[in-house]
Formats: sequence, C-alpha cells, structure tokens
Amino acid sequence: MKESSKIDCMSQLILAIESSCDETAAAIIEDGTKVLSNIVASQIDIHKEYGGVVPEIASRKHVELILPVIDKAIVEAGIEKEEISAVAVTKGPGLIGALMVGLSTAKAIAFGLGVPLIGVNHLEAHISAIHLENEVSFPFVGLVVSGGHTSLYLVKNYTEFEPIGKTRDDAAGEAFDKAAKVLGLPYPGGVEIDRLAKEGRREAISFPRPFMTSSTLDFSFSGVKTSMVYYLKKHPNPDDKALRDICASYQEAIVETLVDKTLIAVKQNGVNSVVIAGGVACNSRLRELSKEKFQKENISLYIPSPIYCTDNAAMIGALGSSMFQNKESSELNITPFSTSRTKYKRGDGGKVKSA
Ligand code: KG4
Ligand code: ZN
Repeated sequence: MKESSKIDCMSQLILAIESSCDETAAAIIEDGTKVLSNIVASQIDIHKEYGGVVPEIASRKHVELILPVIDKAIVEAGIEKEEISAVAVTKGPGLIGALMVGLSTAKAIAFGLGVPLIGVNHLEAHISAIHLENEVSFPFVGLVVSGGHTSLYLVKNYTEFEPIGKTRDDAAGEAFDKAAKVLGLPYPGGVEIDRLAKEGRREAISFPRPFMTSSTLDFSFSGVKTSMVYYLKKHPNPDDKALRDICASYQEAIVETLVDKTLIAVKQNGVNSVVIAGGVACNSRLRELSKEKFQKENISLYIPSPIYCTDNAAMIGALGSSMFQNKESSELNITPFSTSRTKYKRGDGGKVKSA
C-alpha cells in the first residue's frame, strides 16, 4: 500500500463492474455505502441509430471501454489497486456477450490481486442501490422496473430476495421503448414518452390495465402496447397535441398498474416500506403517483436518485459489499446467465417471452 493513500487500512473496498447491457460501468465502494467513484460509459448514442441495443455492438464496445473505465474508477477513488478487498461483478441477467466482458475482466483482476470474486444478480442490485442513500428497515417490497424486467421481491435482509411477482410478457421499460418506436420517437423511448407526457392529458385515451382485478402479483404489458398500435391504426399521423395525449395516457396505464400492483404486494405481505428501482424508476409520473398513493396508505417509499436507477456499478458494489460481509463469494469458473427477454419456441416460430 502506498503511503499517500487516504483510506483507513481497516476499510472494505469493493471494485464493482457492470456490463449487462449498453452501459460499461465501474465503481469503488467503501464500507458498503460510501461511493468513492462511479463511472458509467453509456453506449446509448451508438444504439440509438438502430432503435435499440444491438448485442454484438454492445459486446465490442464493452471490450474497448472496460479497462479505461475501471482505471478511471480507481484513479477517481484515490486508491491503489492493492487496497481492493474484493471484486463484485454482474453475472446476469443480461446479454451474454456483454456480461462475458465484465465477468472475464473481473475474474482476471480478482485472480491477479488474490481477492474474492463476487458474482452479483443485476436485478437484486437495482434494489440494493437504495442502501447507498437511505436506511430502509427489513422486510420491504422491492419493485425492479427496467428495460428487460419488471419484478417484485419480498426483501428480507441485505442479501435475501424472494421473488413474488414478475411480468409474464413485456417489461415496463420494453413497453415504453416499443411504443416510442411505433410513435417514431428516439431510443430510449421511456425518457421521450416521459417528456412528452408532461404536456398531455392522462385521461384522453383509456388504455388497458391488465391483471388489475386479479390478486396475482404478476404483470402483463404486451396488451397495452398492442392497444396503442390499434389506436394508431385508427388515428394515424397524430399532431403534436394528440401525440402528447397518447404519451400521457399510455404512460398512465403503465405507471398506475405498477403502483397499484406494488400496493397489493405490500398489503399481501404485511410490510410498510417499498423500494422502487431500475431505469423506469426515473419516470417522473411513476415517482409522483407512487409518492401520492403510498403516502395515503402510510407506507414509506424509497426511490434511488436517477443516477443509481439506470444501470451503474455502484449498485453492484452495494450488494457485493453485503455479500462480502456475509462471506459469500464465487468460484472463478462461474458463467453468466441471460434469462433473456425473448425466447423462440421451436416448431411454431412463435415468440415466447420470459422475464
Ligand atoms: O435499468 P436500465 O438502465 O437498464 C436495464 O437494466 O434494462 O433501464 C433502462 C430502461 C429503458 O427501457 C428506458 O426506456 C427506461 O429504463 N427509462 C425510462 C425513463 N428513463 C429510463 N422509462 C420511463 N421514463 C423514464 N424517465
Ligand atoms: Zn438494469
């Protein structure tokens, strides 16, 4: 260790790496919650051209960016590599090629430094992002809403996540992104729909709210998207005002479903705190409506800051730190997993979705 280091030698320093989709990210987390650096190199501008993430391009970009991003995280944190206690890395779900880049790099660094490797679940890490900024008492209900997933968990402690519900088809972010594409809006669509919806009428069009009358904690968003496609067929070429109304009504259907279903989960599980995380948790209407509804029910609501909602490595470090404290680590031969958004059923050529 260099004399110049300002880190207490008893500190636990986690190097965290994230490369599951189109963000190459690295962070240094001290003692579980202190973010010494949080570097995110986004590939959005590259994938925008194609209207969505192109897996092969994402993997190639990760290869280019991973080492500079890690170096930057170490330099910005003001630490020496030798001070790192463990390397936490996303092992899935995500794009396999993209995950391979982060995972292989993490393995090499962990092996080289002689420190533990900690494979982290990306979805659980989205929820753990909350511990970087807030103290939440357990158990609580966690909702992860991202581009690839919409999942509810009963979170029992820092490392125990019991899945209690998920989407049976499209994820909420996917529903935003696909609708935006149909409306001719740029990728990522959620951001654009959120912006346009601010000046639209939420009650202008009645889009469906699936499963709201049943007690299941599962979601379904493909019907909302199809309903919007049919609406556009009947009302083609919307002007600016009509476009804003469509965005506001469509967003409301998704957001209301997310909030109401989470409220059912809270009641079914008898908890009084909720964490909403993932990229879609940046949505301004989701933040507003959840605050309104949960406050009314006396339930504490926690949503991470936007930088910790979209993909980042600090959240991987947050969960990785808890796992490290629990003495949970991974073998160097672990492999990534995808649980990909789209699976193709052999024989009928039909698309079968899985979250
Ligand atoms: O968590 P994330 O960064 O990546 C995944 O793990 O998928 O989430 C990305 C998703 C995209 O679908 C994007 O459209 C959505 O989050 N998103 C939003 C907003 N900002 C990002 N959706 C709705 N409103 C937003 N403001
Ligand atoms: Zn994510």
